[in-house]
Amino acid sequence: MAVVGAGYVGLSTALVLEHIGHEVRVVDADLDRVLLLQRGRDPLGEPHVSKLLDRTNILFTADPRVALARREAILLAVGTPRLSDGRADLSAVFSAAGDIARHAAPVPVLVRSTVPVGTADRLQAGILTSFRVVSNPEFLREGSAILDALRPSRIVAGGALEDRSTVEELYGSILRQDYAPFGALKAGPDPVPFRWMDRRSAELTKYAANAFLATKLSFVNEIANVAGVVGADIRAIIGALGLDPRIAPGFLRPGIGWGGSCFPKDVKALEAFANDEGYDFTLLRAVIDQNNGQVERFLALMASELSRVPSPHIALLGLAFKAHTADCRESPAVALANLMADRGWQVTAYDPGVATRPGDLSPSVRVATTAAAAAVGADALVIGTEWPEFADAELGTLRAAMRGDALFDGRCIIDPARSAAAGLRYFALWATQSTDAGSIDVTLQMVESGSACADATAREPANGAS
Ligand code: UGA
Repeated sequence: MAVVGAGYVGLSTALVLEHIGHEVRVVDADLDRVLLLQRGRDPLGEPHVSKLLDRTNILFTADPRVALARREAILLAVGTPRLSDGRADLSAVFSAAGDIARHAAPVPVLVRSTVPVGTADRLQAGILTSFRVVSNPEFLREGSAILDALRPSRIVAGGALEDRSTVEELYGSILRQDYAPFGALKAGPDPVPFRWMDRRSAELTKYAANAFLATKLSFVNEIANVAGVVGADIRAIIGALGLDPRIAPGFLRPGIGWGGSCFPKDVKALEAFANDEGYDFTLLRAVIDQNNGQVERFLALMASELSRVPSPHIALLGLAFKAHTADCRESPAVALANLMADRGWQVTAYDPGVATRPGDLSPSVRVATTAAAAAVGADALVIGTEWPEFADAELGTLRAAMRGDALFDGRCIIDPARSAAAGLRYFALWATQSTDAGSIDVTLQMVESGSACADATAREPANGAS
């Protein structure tokens, strides 16, 4: 095998393919990354990657000739970032395809990058005409990419029927779940479903999966907002909703919105390429608008509750777009930090996974090395990322370091009873909000409600079937 691209999709897939017995070479244009990998260093911070790198025989190179010569199959996994108009930037895909056309024998090329529908057909008809192009989208989550690659919820591929057996053979022991255990990672009890289709359907399956999940989250955020204004208990609601197998319990935790390098890029790309074909995807536009407004809604709640505090000091817990990653790309927590800083608020942020200051974080936001340090003198604690250590934090200790007593939960991970017990007033979009017409005691109401949000997250299946 050759894998083109050593991002979290390419590298995780390469490591797992080698683990199940393939001889793998990986090429990446980023020489610094290649040098790190050659020294066995994990450039991603993904669980299990370091250990797999310690024992790997993968050849990492920046030279496509070295990687692509004498291969039986090639997996293309380069990035497809979002352009300013929402469309996917395919320049890395076409440049990699050019390398393949120049340096490889005409073998199957599996396109694992997320590409607009029709891209694999274009490659097949054009630059890769003498190769056999298969669309093979991935469903890996950052933070559990190795686990998701070893125990996927399904493997989807599309192309000419003659290539089906090659793909089944390639993923053979993952499909059968009969590979050797790796540390605590063992094969699952059941075979993995394999879905073979045409290239366009495989490409659209990927977008449909991400767009559906984003829609589910925007919907639950709307219900949470409605719960806040009508005085209903979102924790009880999502706990009951998730019991319906048609709805399922995963991806029901409300918050300040979904982010990361995939959802925002993919939902906008789907909306854009549907629109290019003359189809107006109104539902998806509403999903995107809902998400864009969620951070602003949260900020408006904070501004109203802190209106009597001149230039509030805020301790923001979390910068990453989700827990268990250092990735801050399109992070709602970073967007919130910047909006607070724009208002002249004094923001000190802390994130247990983020060692390098995000490039797009406002320069006036200070970064602390512990939650306790961020809390010193703060008027409010704000949860920006769903790290378990924030859910379990010693709220009493944080409260003692603060000047004020407000806790704004942007991720539905704090048990309001614990917040109240620590002397913190709990605020969230889903907590009944005080209005001019008369206020309901938020803390008392939420104390009785338990923490079904945390339950909903805990019950997400670990096999990528999120
Ligand atoms: C997502 C998909 O889940 C993967 O299946 C897909 O392969 C990947 O994109 C991709 O296209 O490569 P990922 O970006 O790693 O994976 O992030 P998720 O775990 O899906 O979370 C996305 C966002 O939703 C985060 O901001 C997270 O905080 C938010 N979220 C998630 C919630 O607000 N509530 C939830 O209940 C779950």
